[in-house]
Amino acid sequence: MRKFLIDTDTASDDAVAMCMALKHPDVDVVGFTVVAGNVPLDQAVQNALYTVELCGADTPVYVGADRPMLRDLGTAQDVHGEDGMGDIGLPLTGRTPAEGWAPQVIIDTIRANPGEITLVPIGPLTNVAIALLMAPDIAEKVERVVVMGGTGETGPGNISPTAEFNFWVDPEAVRVVLRSGMPLEFVGWDVSIKSAVVTNERQEHLRTLGPLGNFAIDIQATLQGYAWEETRLAGPDFPDPIAMAHAIDPAPATTEHLGVDIAIGSEPMRGTIIVDHYGFAQIPKNVHVVAHYPEAHFFSMLYDLLGD
Ligand code: BDR
Ligand code: CA
Repeated sequence: MRKFLIDTDTASDDAVAMCMALKHPDVDVVGFTVVAGNVPLDQAVQNALYTVELCGADTPVYVGADRPMLRDLGTAQDVHGEDGMGDIGLPLTGRTPAEGWAPQVIIDTIRANPGEITLVPIGPLTNVAIALLMAPDIAEKVERVVVMGGTGETGPGNISPTAEFNFWVDPEAVRVVLRSGMPLEFVGWDVSIKSAVVTNERQEHLRTLGPLGNFAIDIQATLQGYAWEETRLAGPDFPDPIAMAHAIDPAPATTEHLGVDIAIGSEPMRGTIIVDHYGFAQIPKNVHVVAHYPEAHFFSMLYDLLGD
């Protein structure tokens, strides 16, 4: 079994990614660490606990940073709903997280399992950056770090013209992670809008799979509206689930090893990734950037894992 530690700002697409990992027979999810992002921290923790319970699991959920390292929190409640789970009336209160603070859990888990942990951050990188500042040695002890964030080499942003939400929320944290020496793989929003758009036909298919398939669609209620009005995609897209697919099975991906930095500062470039294609900035190659993940492979994995 491969050991996954998943860092999440749990909202509607995070929850689907969490279900995929929890349902995969070869993946042992050792914990979920939660960070503020899509929704305020307390809500994200409740969303994670609800999702774990729905999957019939008892994986611990740990509370982490309630704001970015140096900035105020900007949420995506206009995209994922006030409660982050589509505002469909789910009972998202009253569950109790595990003892332990997320950055410390990240440190302890990686140190206790050297070379064995796949860390999968699918929210802002605040918890991971704090862990790295406290314990830089974890960079060489982690097996893989599969991040949902950025816009690949060419993609548009989803929170500003050029920035993707997770990296926009806490760009300083991204820079700490980029310079840490961790073995990084980035799955950007560009991959999601190319290969993880949940068309009506796919939504109908998911609904035939049972409770988790219905859950995966129901909680996208507000994201669906965002797709109609803002991105004009043919349905909600699944950035965190396609990042999880790559974490589970990287074989079908096309990747490029590149030198990557991030724009720190204010708009309009806040949180935009900078790819040093020609080496002008002499950024050491620090990220395997996923350029393509085949859509057929992603959806067949999703259907397999969410089915009864
Ligand atoms: C990312 O931002 C969030 O809204 C999603 O959960 C995903 O992690 C996509 O840009
Ligand atoms: Ca997320």
